Amino acid sequence: MTREDVPQVFQIEKSFFSIPWKEQDFYDLLPKEEYFFLVAKQEEKVLGYLGAAITPFDASVTTTGVLLEHQRRGVGTALFKALFFECQRRGLAEVFLEVRESNRKARAFYEKLGFCQLASRKNFYQDPMEDGILMRYKTRVEKEC
Ligand SMILES: CC(C)(COP(=O)(O)OP(=O)(O)OC[C@H]1O[C@@H](n2cnc3c(N)ncnc32)[C@H](O)[C@@H]1OP(=O)(O)O)[C@@H](O)C(=O)NCCC(=O)NCCS
Repeated sequence: MTREDVPQVFQIEKSFFSIPWKEQDFYDLLPKEEYFFLVAKQEEKVLGYLGAAITPFDASVTTTGVLLEHQRRGVGTALFKALFFECQRRGLAEVFLEVRESNRKARAFYEKLGFCQLASRKNFYQDPMEDGILMRYKTRVEKEC
């Protein structure tokens, strides 16, 4: 992701989340080493994006989305495969994320990728308030939780 991609990424972000990241958040965090951002593009059009916070040990997906009209064509999978590859390159063993309990589409997507449910976090989300499901993907032993 470059600064030029941010306006399109922000439009996608706003379309999906009740409390979206601010456009300025992307500009501020993009250059930071502790964050990793990816976009999937078709020519100049951003089809999807992914942001992750990186520690010396693991990565946590902070936000991700694929344009509604481009969903179910493997764009999300390509973004996450690229994240897993980058984690392996950096020697990071695990990828974590939270997902709304009611977000069946995303939960099915993460399970297909090999994420496993670790825990439920009571009232993790606001607007509307809802439990979050904590999920983990192991980059080294792909088939186990
Ligand atoms: C979740 C999301 C990123 C998936 O992106 P995508 O590009 O559509 O995903 P893919 O095409 O790579 O899907 C891979 C697999 O995930 C599963 N999956 C994806 N969308 C699904 C859906 N709507 N229903 C059931 N399973 C689904 C399927 O197993 C799919 O494989 P298949 O198409 O061969 O059956 C996308 O739906 C999205 O942007 N959702 C809105 C934002 C969001 O909820 N973000 C996550 C917040 S935690």
